[in-house]
Amino acid sequence: MDYIEYNRRAWDKKVDQGVKYTRCVDSATIERARNDDWEITVTTDKPVPRDWFPESLKDQRVLCLASGGGQQGPVLAAAGADVTVLDVSEKQLGQDRSVAERENLSLKTVQGTMTDLSRFEDESFDIVVNPVSNLFIKDIRPVWKGAARVLKQGGTMITGFTNPIVFMFDPNEEAKGRLVVSNPIPGSTLDGLSYEEKQAAIESGEPVQFSHTLEDQLQGQADAGLLIAGFFEDDFGGSRPLDRYSRSFIATRALKMG
Ligand SMILES: C[S@@+](CC[C@H](N)C(=O)[O-])C[C@H]1O[C@@H](n2cnc3c(N)ncnc32)[C@H](O)[C@@H]1O
Repeated sequence: MDYIEYNRRAWDKKVDQGVKYTRCVDSATIERARNDDWEITVTTDKPVPRDWFPESLKDQRVLCLASGGGQQGPVLAAAGADVTVLDVSEKQLGQDRSVAERENLSLKTVQGTMTDLSRFEDESFDIVVNPVSNLFIKDIRPVWKGAARVLKQGGTMITGFTNPIVFMFDPNEEAKGRLVVSNPIPGSTLDGLSYEEKQAAIESGEPVQFSHTLEDQLQGQADAGLLIAGFFEDDFGGSRPLDRYSRSFIATRALKMG
């Protein structure tokens, strides 16, 4: 199964459904960003600390990686950055283009997978912003390597990802409010399903998700030459049982060191 192509279609469908992660920022947010009053998220709700970015974004080349949906890209462009948004979903990119058109902002959109950044030259970006998205790919190490290659020396990689513990629980039990450990890490939402269950999961059109070890998430960045210099956690805002026990998302700031 070509899960990248499958997830591309799944995300196009999410735009049609208008789910949270596909909803564009409003005009007031862009107006504030033009006046240097801005914030973005790379997890669920907690803003990325302002000091993870340089004081001014003017002329900073920013790659918003797997970041379609009309959120991070338009805000950073309004704050003065030279923004390129890459996403696998053409409809998610359409959200960024519609905000850019509505607000008369300049940004580039590129359809492609985060696992292949070969279209970008070495050291061509100051900042890579990568909101929670690497759960939609199996092998995340090529993303760290690709991002490190396209970043300038001293450049910044800001990434959100899912805490692997989120994937450990049986989703059917969790829907009933019970946390029952059932899934090894790493793995995917298709693991352990019968043939019929797998077919039903695929026909549902929901994206296939992959869990990764913290070693691949953190040491994977270090191995690519990205040194972790900042860290915070976020949660589901109280909407999932796990919020009572743990945070479910992690954000890192990493610096490219030679
Ligand atoms: C949860 S959204 C994150 C972006 C959104 N702006 C936000 O902050 O909520 C996940 C994004 O990852 C994208 N995506 C999924 N698989 C991808 C891949 N292989 N390459 C690039 N983007 C991908 C989806 O299309 C979607 O836009």
